Amino acid sequence: MANIMITDACNLRCPYCFANEFVNQDQNEITIDAFEKAVDFIVGDGSEKSLGLIGGEPALHSKFDILMRKVLCDRRIRSITVFTNGILLDRYWDVLTHPKVHLLINCNSPRDMGEHNYQRLCNNLKILFSQKLRTDYVHLGINMYRSDFEYEYMLDLLSRFNLDSVRVSVSVPNLSENRNIDPHAYFNGMKPRVLEFFTRLLENKVVPNYDCNKIPLCLITRDELTQFSHFLNDPVVAPKIEESSIFSPFVRCSPVIDILQDLSVVRCFGLSAYTRQKISDFSGIQELSAFYRREIDSYAYNTIYSTQCLDCYHRKVMKCTGGCLAYKIDAILTSKQYAENVMRSVSSQQCPC
Ligand SMILES: C[S@@+](CC[C@H](N)C(=O)[O-])C[C@H]1O[C@@H](n2cnc3c(N)ncnc32)[C@H](O)[C@@H]1O
Ligand code: SF4
Ligand code: SF4
Repeated sequence: MANIMITDACNLRCPYCFANEFVNQDQNEITIDAFEKAVDFIVGDGSEKSLGLIGGEPALHSKFDILMRKVLCDRRIRSITVFTNGILLDRYWDVLTHPKVHLLINCNSPRDMGEHNYQRLCNNLKILFSQKLRTDYVHLGINMYRSDFEYEYMLDLLSRFNLDSVRVSVSVPNLSENRNIDPHAYFNGMKPRVLEFFTRLLENKVVPNYDCNKIPLCLITRDELTQFSHFLNDPVVAPKIEESSIFSPFVRCSPVIDILQDLSVVRCFGLSAYTRQKISDFSGIQELSAFYRREIDSYAYNTIYSTQCLDCYHRKVMKCTGGCLAYKIDAILTSKQYAENVMRSVSSQQCPC
């Protein structure tokens, strides 16, 4: 999946935001010319039929409707995901309710976004679900970023709008001091509240779906898992649980590519400091994805942040990366350097004939 960051302007300052090193830095928005280049880069080689728009808050781009119409009219594109905090949706109902558009609405608590903004979000959700009838193309999400994160407001939104799934993320590191750490203490700290939230969701017939940074299976005890087993007998939630990533043992980080306003590109904001490239150095998205897979992802299972992972079966069979790759990005870069040195020394020893 590739996203285009169309503006760094944002009307919120979420404490967990992993784009915070870019957001509200210089209120820089993408030009129409650069936007077209980014779109061509993503869908030009035919390997991708969808793209995402991110920010900052995408709806703050001064020409948001023009950018939207460009991608809506583009026959190479089948779906456009707009990542939004939901506050300004009412400015753009005409383009945002187009059948090609999926909305991923990041819902913050009233305390984090302010009562006024929260009311605007609620009003927009009300219009969206009651008048625009686009429920299947709209997903609400929550960032679980502290061990006492609030979730009652989310239960309320889900029940008010009769939704049966929610996207959940255990927030990934957004500051350099949180990278290259053993995150097990963080995951363990988050776990009681996360499991409590999941229980409340499932009791309300809502199935959570992990976005990324899933809590690794080694940190969930058998007893904790057993507490959820009766939901598998619930005829309403059981089929949805099977489709959800929630009980799968896989902890993966699929390469997300974020193209910035100046047409530089990073492999996800969480790894931005280590993975910045220019799209002009690649022929298209396929070549760039292969580059990130080779340079970063191929080391995801061969590197560890904790001795606990060393002999772990789930790592060896490529089921678990241990969570966000930012937790071991130094180990990944060291392994890569080592592999390059070996390759260099092997090729220098080759017979010249
Ligand atoms: C950077 S935001 C930009 C778009 C929009 N302002 C929003 O909040 O959705 C894009 C996505 O990043 C997610 N996100 C932000 N910080 C995160 C973090 N620390 N860990 C995981 N996801 C995060 C948000 O939930 C959102 O879905
Ligand atoms: S609304 Fe989105 S871009 Fe803005 S601070 Fe929050 S997560 Fe970051
Ligand atoms: S690889 Fe590490 S984090 Fe993942 S299950 Fe194994 S020990 Fe746990």
